[in-house]
This record gives sequence, structure tokens and C-alpha cells, in this order.
Amino acid sequence: MTYNFDQLIPRENTNAFKYDALSEIFGNKDAIPMWVADMDFHTPDFIVEALKKRLDHEIFGYTKRPDSFNNSLVQWVKKRHGWEIQPDWVSFSPGVVPACSMSVLAFTDPGDKVIVQPPVYFPFFSVVRENGRELVHNQLILKEGRYFMDFDDLEKKASEGAKMIIISHPHNPGGMVWGKEELMELGTIAEKYDMLILSDEIHSDLIFSPYRHIPMASLSAEIADRTITTMAPSKTFNLAGFSTSAMIISNEKLRKKYEKVLSTIHVGMGNIFGNIAFETAYTMGEEWLGQLLVYLQRNIQFTTDFICNQIPGIKVIKPEATYMVWLDCRKLGMDAKELNRFLVHDAGLALSDGAMFGPGGEGFTRMNVACPMEVLEKALRNLKSAIYSLKNLD
Ligand SMILES: Cc1ncc(COP(=O)(O)O)c(C=O)c1O
Repeated sequence: MTYNFDQLIPRENTNAFKYDALSEIFGNKDAIPMWVADMDFHTPDFIVEALKKRLDHEIFGYTKRPDSFNNSLVQWVKKRHGWEIQPDWVSFSPGVVPACSMSVLAFTDPGDKVIVQPPVYFPFFSVVRENGRELVHNQLILKEGRYFMDFDDLEKKASEGAKMIIISHPHNPGGMVWGKEELMELGTIAEKYDMLILSDEIHSDLIFSPYRHIPMASLSAEIADRTITTMAPSKTFNLAGFSTSAMIISNEKLRKKYEKVLSTIHVGMGNIFGNIAFETAYTMGEEWLGQLLVYLQRNIQFTTDFICNQIPGIKVIKPEATYMVWLDCRKLGMDAKELNRFLVHDAGLALSDGAMFGPGGEGFTRMNVACPMEVLEKALRNLKSAIYSLKNLD
């Protein structure tokens, strides 16, 4: 079956955060929404069918996750990433950010140091700070259009007693697929200083050829023993509204600690539709995902070429994964406030402000290109004409 990603689907007035919060957040309800990380494509038909079938039963009482829930993830990670996991290593979480927050609670104590690598997905900062832990930055280094980990700095900070590092793997917003050598080096430092690794792998299915996702915990038994992995079908299959994701923890002691937090705050049951969407996605999603990746890769290439050839002053950090494109706007010479005003009001685009992603994000903006090509073309044309009027170019 051929899926149609070109279809324009109105999302206004559906309580879609990306659309219906535009006025509130950006002060421009007509801006093209390319901020929140969900996609403007239909969730796959086979998932919708499975949900409708359950809906037809018309009783929606308390639910139990069947064994097939965990098994669907076991099979998926084996097929997609060559990673062999056991069903009983899998725990539930009502979302990946909640999984990160619960991990901070489960594996660290108030006042403990937790490392993050900015510029990075900003809830990492709040799950550390708001749980009363100390946030430590291990700044990424931008070199020739790609971010790299700074291992000297990481080792220094690990040696100062950090209990845990949270990594975005693949990386949001930079789009890097961390390679085996980088991951091994990180793992070696974690082992040397007895630091846990929380690996947020929510984007791990959105990888573009020739890159391959290597789950952090698949590197060695020793690294697996100190790694907590979180995954979900929510980005891949556009299911974020179901708040259903998974933790993979092979170390039984750590898993029990996590599950204790999950049961203490009583969020382990999940919801009836999220369970169905999760399992159906992982069981039936391969063909759809193959077509999605082709479409996204084309959008990314189009964005890269368009900006590179037609928009002076902006540089693209080309993603190896994810549908987010990280744009370096520093040459425009605007401060954060002026850049945001320019993008929202002159270009008519609602993008994610780079400064939110922490140190190193200032002067950048993140563009979500998971939309029909027609929308993307319009957005890039808007950006071009705003830049040209700014620079008074022909
Ligand atoms: C790296 C990363 N982690 C987590 C999330 C959100 O996860 P959830 O909605 O399951 O809390 C996102 C969403 O953009 C993300 O990019």
C-alpha cells in the first residue's frame, strides 16, 4: 500500500497544541506551526482501525497490559536495531519525559549532580532542577556542521561525582545519530566513575540511511548494567497524545527502583487506547515507517538545499535522524528576542527558539519539517522573502 503524506489535513480547533496554542505562545495565530514535535500526517490506518475496533466494544474500564505489549517492543528492537532484550526488562511509562523525571527520582538523591549535554531537549533541564538535583552541563561542540561530545569535559564532570547523565540519542535538536565510538567513550567514562546513563531513544526509529541506531545498552553487558533506556512509538507513528512509552532496564535492581517510583505515584496503569496504539505500531508499522522515512528525508534534503542555495545568513545543521532541522541564524546578527520577532511576525513561522535548548542554542532555531511538502515550500518561501526584505536584497 502507498501512503499519502502530501495530504493537507486541517488541525485547527482539534485541541492540537501545535495549532491551538499559536496565539497564546507566539501571538500570531496565522504563523505556520513548525514547533511542537509531532507530525502533520495521519497516524497510520492500521493503528486507527485497531483503536476503532476497541472503541466498538463500548466499555472502557480499567485496563491490563497484555504480555503482547512488551513482546511487541522486544520484536521491534530486535528487527530494527538488532538489540536482543527480554520482555521482563520492559516497564511502562506514561511518556518519555515522565520516564526521565521518574528516573531522576528513582536513581538519584536530592542535591545529586546530573549531567546533560546542551543544546538539548529542554525538559531534561527541568526534570533535573524541579526534582531538586543539580544540573551540570557537558556542552556539545559544534564542528563543521555537526555536534560532538566533549569527553574531556565529561570526564571532569563525572569525576566530580555526577550520579547520572541524560543523553538524547539520537539527538534533539541537532539530529546526530551517536556512533559506536562516541557511545563507547561515554560508556567507558560512566563505568570509570560509576555513573548511570539515562538514554532517551525516542527518536531512534527516525534514522536516515546510511546511519544506524545503536542502542546505548546494546554496547556491552557492563554498559547495559548501568543504562536505563526509554523508547516510544509516539514520534515515529504520531501517537504522542496517547502518553504511552516504555523503559528498558536489564539491571533488575535498577528496574525495581524505577517500578517503585512508578507505583508510588500510581501512574503505571496507562490507558486503554495507548496500549493498543503502542502494540499495533510495533507489530505492524514497518512498511509505513519505510515510506515515512523516504518522505522525511526528501523534506530534509529540500530544506537543506533551499536554505543553502537561496537564503543567505542561515546555515543548516543537517540531521542524521529526526524530523527537526536545527538552523544556525547567528550570522543574521539578531539577539534572541529580535530573532523570534522576525521569525514569527516577518516570516510568519512558529519555530522553536534555540535559546530554550540551553547554552549554545542562542541564535539558533528548530524547524519541524514533518509536514506536507506544500506547507514546507510555503514556509521556506516566507523565510526567504523575509530575509530578503531585511537585507534589502533582490
Ligand atoms: C528527545 C525527546 N524526548 C522526549 C520527548 C517527549 O516525550 P513524551 O511526549 O513521551 O514525554 C521528545 C519530544 O519532542 C523528545 O524530542
